[in-house]
Amino acid sequence: MPRSKDVAADRSITAGSDFLQLNTADAPAGGLSDWLAQRLRLAVADGRLAVGDRLPATRTLAAELRVSRGVVTEAYQRLIEDGHAVGRGRGGTVVVAAPVAAAAPAPARPAQTPPPGAVFTTEPEADVFDTVRAAPARIDLSPGTPDLASFPRTAWSRAERRVLGTHAAPGFGYGDPRGTPELRRAVAKWLARNRGLSVAPDEVLIVSGTAQTLGLLAQVLGRRGVREVAVEDPGSLGARQHLRYWGMRTPPVPVDADGIRVRDLRASGAPAVLVTPAHQFPTGVVLGGARRRELMRWAADGDGLIIEDDYDAEHRYDRPPVPALRAMLPEHVCYAGSVSKLLAPALRTGWVVAPPELHGALVDAKRFTDLGNAALPQWVLADLMESGELERRLRQLRKRHRARRDAMIQAIGTHLPGAVVQGAAAGLHLTVTFDADFADTDLAAAALLRGVKVQPLSWHRQGPGRPGLVLGYAASTATEIAEGLAVIGSVLE
Ligand SMILES: Cc1ncc(COP(=O)(O)O)c(C=O)c1O
Repeated sequence: MPRSKDVAADRSITAGSDFLQLNTADAPAGGLSDWLAQRLRLAVADGRLAVGDRLPATRTLAAELRVSRGVVTEAYQRLIEDGHAVGRGRGGTVVVAAPVAAAAPAPARPAQTPPPGAVFTTEPEADVFDTVRAAPARIDLSPGTPDLASFPRTAWSRAERRVLGTHAAPGFGYGDPRGTPELRRAVAKWLARNRGLSVAPDEVLIVSGTAQTLGLLAQVLGRRGVREVAVEDPGSLGARQHLRYWGMRTPPVPVDADGIRVRDLRASGAPAVLVTPAHQFPTGVVLGGARRRELMRWAADGDGLIIEDDYDAEHRYDRPPVPALRAMLPEHVCYAGSVSKLLAPALRTGWVVAPPELHGALVDAKRFTDLGNAALPQWVLADLMESGELERRLRQLRKRHRARRDAMIQAIGTHLPGAVVQGAAAGLHLTVTFDADFADTDLAAAALLRGVKVQPLSWHRQGPGRPGLVLGYAASTATEIAEGLAVIGSVLE
């Protein structure tokens, strides 16, 4: 009987395995490890091998294919190196990442990296977030989530038991589309304590997050003949997509170191604008005092509407709090808040405090969308707010997020020495820009192929600009952050 190495070399004798229907007859002469590694990558990419799947023992597969064990070991090693698998000692070799499209290893320079499928195109389609969110990654540095691992599960379930024990049967019927009185009261108090806003519970409308606020507003404004909501540039791609879905054009208005440039907003002629004054998304700049006044003048002079997206204002580290704009001009500012950054996006809960003139129409839009948010999570949330649990969580989160932010800045210094960091004083993310000429979508694509998920800055821009990344640090540990940045650094090299 010939030795296994020699069998494969002899092209007249081939051997196969049930595993992925591998057959050495398909292998090119002299490239068995390359062939096997490529077949495994393909299986990961098309889903035949899922994250967590264990590859067969090298000895077993080698015997089935009648190749030397070194051929299989070498192929597995390549998968480990390009981030598709990890070696777990006696636990074997386990799949850890399923790249979204091409199964080829990432080339070293981002400029030469083919974008994987349509995921990281420069003008992404509306479902791009779903596609990217679904793409498995070892390390997820996407912006927009707090530390989800510390979601207060025990406090939540205790509060849920409490409210289940106290609410009478009628509470489980159809309720007020504005939200439960308990949560509207709790939100009004929260806004007074934490955001400098004095509002009555009856002015608060509970919604399914800021995403729904934008949808409801677009519908209400659309009925009044408004077709445009100006947006910050750079500004949130997600917010832009929501407004567009509901029929709005979104003319871009540049942002500089003081926030949105109001002169350009005036020139745009748009009757409404979406802004993130406390922590501009994604640059992190704060709308300066003079700019705030200028923006108020714009609204008051031309009957303009300011949509204030206060998405992560409570998370701040090295700077004083920035009060909400709405306090300055309630007739012209529609305030949008959310628990997505305080607790978890999965709760799909937020609130709107609209100018009095828009409030009724928004309540109608909410009523005819879904008759109001589910009551039970509203009761639980109100309980957590009233009991001080939410403030406690915020204090804990601040500490943890600050440490992670520091870890990210340090890792950027080590692995991306030429990068310029912006917007790190507050929030859940920061941005880095590069003084170089390449497509940041390619960089994000190459990083994802190596198991690290990030958002390219260009996604959030409508105009040209330097390549960059928007890097979330709140949901990852310091070790993951360091590892993720090392991967990005190696891709950039
Ligand atoms: C700029 C911005 N605003 C608001 C939100 C929150 O949206 P929601 O409350 O619908 O989760 C996000 C989420 O990532 C965001 O990036």
